[in-house]
Formats: sequence, structure tokens, C-alpha cells
Amino acid sequence: MKRSAFLLSLFVSISLGSFAQIIPVVTRQNALVFQVNPNKDLQMVYLGEKLANQDEYGQIPGLFNQSGDYTGLYNSAYTSSGTRNLLEPAISVTHWDGNNSLDLQYVSHQVEKISDDISLLKIVLKDRVYPFQVTMYVKSYFAEDVIEQWTEITHQEKKSVTLHKYASANLSLKSSAFYLTQYHGDWAKEMHPEESKLTHGIKTLDSKLGTRANLFQPSFFMLSMGKPASEDEGEVLYGMMEWSGNFKIDMELDPQDNLRLIAGINNYASDYSIVTNQTFKTPAFLYVLSQNGKGEASRKIQAWARNHKLLDGKGNRLTLLNNWEATGFGFDEQKLFSILKDTKKLGVDLFLLDDGWFGNKYPRNSDNAGLGDWQANRAKLPNGVASLVKEAGATGVKFGIWVEPEMVNPASDLYHQHPDWVIKQPNRGEYYFRNQLVLDLSNPKVQDFVFGVIDGLFRENPDLAYIKWDCNAVIYNAYSAHLQNQSHLYVDYVNGLYNVLKRIRDKYPTVPMMLCSGGGGRVDYAALQYFTEFWPSDNTDPLERVFMQWEYSYFFPSMSMSCHVTDWGRQPLKYKVDVAMMGKMGFDIVVDRLSENDLKFCQQAVGNYNQLKDIIWHGDQYRLVDPKSNDFASLMYVDSSKQKAVVFNYLVNNRYDVRSVYPVKMKGLNPDQKYSVQEVNLYPGTQSALDSQKVLSGDFLMRVGYNPRVDGSRQSVILLIEEAK
Ligand code: DGJ
Repeated sequence: MKRSAFLLSLFVSISLGSFAQIIPVVTRQNALVFQVNPNKDLQMVYLGEKLANQDEYGQIPGLFNQSGDYTGLYNSAYTSSGTRNLLEPAISVTHWDGNNSLDLQYVSHQVEKISDDISLLKIVLKDRVYPFQVTMYVKSYFAEDVIEQWTEITHQEKKSVTLHKYASANLSLKSSAFYLTQYHGDWAKEMHPEESKLTHGIKTLDSKLGTRANLFQPSFFMLSMGKPASEDEGEVLYGMMEWSGNFKIDMELDPQDNLRLIAGINNYASDYSIVTNQTFKTPAFLYVLSQNGKGEASRKIQAWARNHKLLDGKGNRLTLLNNWEATGFGFDEQKLFSILKDTKKLGVDLFLLDDGWFGNKYPRNSDNAGLGDWQANRAKLPNGVASLVKEAGATGVKFGIWVEPEMVNPASDLYHQHPDWVIKQPNRGEYYFRNQLVLDLSNPKVQDFVFGVIDGLFRENPDLAYIKWDCNAVIYNAYSAHLQNQSHLYVDYVNGLYNVLKRIRDKYPTVPMMLCSGGGGRVDYAALQYFTEFWPSDNTDPLERVFMQWEYSYFFPSMSMSCHVTDWGRQPLKYKVDVAMMGKMGFDIVVDRLSENDLKFCQQAVGNYNQLKDIIWHGDQYRLVDPKSNDFASLMYVDSSKQKAVVFNYLVNNRYDVRSVYPVKMKGLNPDQKYSVQEVNLYPGTQSALDSQKVLSGDFLMRVGYNPRVDGSRQSVILLIEEAK
């Protein structure tokens, strides 16, 4: 049904006489409350558990006996700058006449009911002097307690206005203390958590990389109120930007000890000019609040992603065999034909051909050359991609292909034909990341080219079933030969990328696509509207992956996380496979080098995964034993009916005699239900150390627990818990 068909428009507010007006946004557990003061300042006065009686929200601000506010703006819902403000602004501008002042006042608000679950609050703010307007949007998802906030900025001034800062959201939070969990990393070292107590001043999470913006630091974070939240206790807010480029999240513990959280596109080198009546839309800042710890917050965000954001979030995914780790650039048609047979033998759904299949004048035989020339390499593939797709069909598997269409090697026809399509300074030397440069997606001609690469592949190969979209360089020497205004480049690049992805999805709505960037340098929910999955890291050492996948899982559902079995790491094959199984499983190994038993194990594992994947992909995830503070990790997925669950257990310490000493307390089961517990995915010829005849109640499994008996000889253990009839 079209949104407009059932769009219900109404005004919701609670008036507190002539003093203040209250605007609450209510979800299943929480309320976000704005207040309009008598002088029309819009403030954020509450984010917390919702009240039974809406009329009482107006009492909240009066209960705080904090020091004074010299501006009346410390808790502004969108802080303007250049007038009364003394703290970090959400917006700062230069008007057409060179004046830098802004003082936004509340004008009106409106709530649209988009569906039973989703509401959209619009609050219009206008400058008191200039014809300059900001509309704040607050989209609330009732069932999952998720909020997305963004703004639209416009003006009717005589000439262009320059935006120097243009945040998506500006929260004001109250608590006795704030503990931030943030992540840092680099290639193969993604998602290392750090927790710290915020002190006065500003803590910033940001990126200035342009593309693959998360390489050093993603925008996702956790903020615990009062004390560090644990898995099941404590008030915690998760936040992240829905933006695939430079971001900036400032957390300012202000003079009143409130936390002012201002999130948006990074304004670094990004002044943005808008002409009269032009509207600048900021990307969404996404957040969710839980009073019951990190686990609940993550289940809310995972459910939200599957229900509302991730492409095909309720659907299926394909298991696959990839050839990158197995062959690198060294393959030809015959080799690939034999890998197609291996794909079939392994039992997975699809073969994914990686990098190295293209380029003729500049063949892609290493990462030095060929990017940009998306024609099949005639020496390796004399019969083109089409013959591979055909052979895959004849072999009984699907076929997918790798592309990196935003990039170019200087050693390519594309670079020589269109030097003006490349982001580089006109009067300086080039500087490379993995021997390549970034194409200028702010240029519509480049957008057409990139769309054409994908469209061409599909038009020539209608049976193409999967795309791996890679992105291995950052933006150096940011300069566009196309743009008049160079400070628009970082923003226009990302919007250009979204234009291309939207065009691809309009034409090819369902084909699965993996978002990749030499690791986890690129994942966010704006991009995941177009992608079914992402590549968490090139580091596929399963021990590393236990930690990384654990951390990613706080923010992204398992079905979106590509987890491949490779030769990285020294753990047994079973451990590698068991770790890949907790996400969206794939393989990147030389199948014909597997021993008979290893092959048999992998084949059986694919069969087992096919039985379990519905619970893993669509179930609720519970973290049971944290690998950061224990010798092993344990986590589980429970299906929505609570009739089935899968528990993954992985040893993460190889010191002498480490083992799961205590039973692991399960979560999310029905206490009144009886369950059988069975070890699955055993290596051929081995027996489980567990008694599979036992039937235990959900009550027992959750209060006392169950010991998976993980130790040096059983380094990974998967349990299937099923309702006992
Ligand atoms: C980086 C990716 O992460 C790898 O999986 C592989 O596709 C290479 N790029 C290919 O160049």
C-alpha cells in the first residue's frame, strides 16, 4: 500500500498552560520528550522509560536541580550557533549577506502515522531573523524502540547560504555518569572495543576517509548510563550513523553534567552551499535505548534491521564457495570449471568468482592493474563470463561475481580515457591506496558508468545470482574535476553512490549483494538497504572471528554477516566451520585438497547448516559467555516460537587444561517447556561427550544451565535444543 494512502496526520502535544508545550514520542518501552519553552526554544527534556500517564512528562524538567544555563540552549534539540550558544552546535551557517548568526525557534509540529508500528514526527524550526528553516524528523519504530532522526534544511534568502555544520540529531541526556563503548581497528583488526567514562569536554568519534569510512573507527557505539551496562542489566543507548562516508559524533559532557550528543556527516572540509529554496537532507542517526542491558538493545536493533532496513531481512541467503583465498588472481576457465564442480561437491548454493577476471590491455593479474576495465580477460576467460555462468548452471550451482566499480588503477584504459573521472588533485602527484584511485561519483557521468558496469553484467548474464561489491581505497587528494564547489565532494560522493545503488535496486531488486571493503571498513544501515550482507573482515582466523563477530552482532543480525571458512588460523577445520556457522556461512578453501574426512565433514556441515540456518538468521540472539573475560565464548539463537535453539561454544584460550568448568546458563527459552539437548556438527568418526538422551526444562536450562564440555579436545561445540514432545 502506498504510504500516502494511509498517512494519518494529526497534532499531538500536551500543553502546560502558557509555560511550555510537551511533544512526546512514545515507543513500546521508551519515550523521547521535547519541550517548547515560552520563548519558543525547542529542548529535549527526556529519553527513558515511558510513563503510564502522558500528562506527567511535563513534570520531568522541574525535578533537576542543576547549575544554571547561561544560554537556555544547553539542552536544545537542535543547537544553533552564532547567537546565544556557548557549546558545540548542531548547525552553523553563513547567510547570503555574510552574517553567521542563527537562532532557531519552534514553529509547528505534526505527526504522521506511517503504519501501526511507525510514526514520523516533523518539527519545523525557523530562524528569528532570516528566512531560514530546519525541519527535524523523528521516525519511531514502536515494536523495536528504535528511533531515526534527521533534518531537512532550506532557506528563502536572496543568495546561497553556506552550511558549515549540519548534524542529523542533537540529543541531550541526563545521568549521573556516562560510559562509552567505542570500536577501533584497521585492516584485519576490526571491531576492537574500548570502554571509558566520559569526562567533561568533547569526545569525538569520526572518520575523514571518504570511502570505506569505518576502517579506523565505525560510527556505532554504546553509551551506558550511570554504570557500565552488562549483557542483561543497565540502561544503555546504541547509536550509529546511517551514512557510508565521513561521519562525526560529538559527545559533550556539558557544564551541567548532561551529555549533549551531536551526530551527523563530518563537516571536515565539507562546507555545503544551498541556493534559495534548495533543501539539504541530512542522513539518519539511528538509536535504540534499553533498560535491560546490551543483549536486549542488540536484539531490538537486529529485529529492526530484519523488519525494516536490511535488504531481504526476512528472506534467505545463499551459502557459497569463493575462490579468493584459494586462487588469488591465478585462475583460468578450466580451473574455474573444476571449482564449479567442487562447489557442487561441497553442497553450497553458489560459486563466487573473485578479483582477477577482467582487464586486457592491463590484465588484472595483480592489484597493480586493470581496475576500471570490466571486460573479461581473454587469456583467462576466452569465452567470457557467460561461459562460466552457463557451466555453473550445467553443474547445478549458481554463479556470482566480484566487482570494485568505484575504483580505478592508473594502469587501465579507463584511467587514460577519462582522467577527469578520477578523484585527484590537478596540480599534485597521485597517492595510492592499494595501487588505486577512487572514481568521482559526484559526477553523474561516472554514476552512469558504475551503474553500467553492473547493468552490463546482468544484461549479458541474466542468470548471474550474486554480486560482491568491493571497495579497497580511501579518498586521498580530494578534488573533483566535475564539481564547482570542492567542499561538496565528500557529501556528493556518498549521495552519488546511493543514486547508483538505488538504480541497481530499482532494476534488480532481489539479487543478493555483499558489501565489502577489504574488511569491515564499510558497513552501515544506509548501505544495507541495498545489500543483503557485508564482509566483516579479511581476517578469517576463526579465533579472531569469534571476537569480531561477537562485537558486530551487537549492531547487525547474523544473516547480514558473511563468515567464510578459509586457511587462516591454526584451529581444527571443525572450529573454523563452527565459527562460520554463527553467521552467513561460506567457504574460501581449495576443496580438492581436503582429506576425505575433512570433505565429508564440510559436506555434512553444509547439510546441518541448512537445517539450522533459519534459527540463526531469523531467531533472537543471546550472548551467554563473553570471550573477552572467559576461556570460551558461548552464544545462542532462539526461534520465535521458542521451540528450537542453537548454542555455539568456542574455546578462546589454549593454555593448559582450560575448559568450560561451569554450566552455561541459557536464555530466551520457555521455562515451562521440556527440551532435548543434542550436540550437532560432529566431525566424522567422533562421538559426542554429551548425553543426548537427557530432557531438561527451559527453567533448568536457564537457571542451572548446561555444560557443553568445551576443552582442548573439543574446542568448539554446537548444541541443538529442541522442544521435547
Ligand atoms: C578485498 C576483499 O576483502 C577480499 O575478500 C578480496 O575480494 C580482495 N579484496 C580482492 O581483491
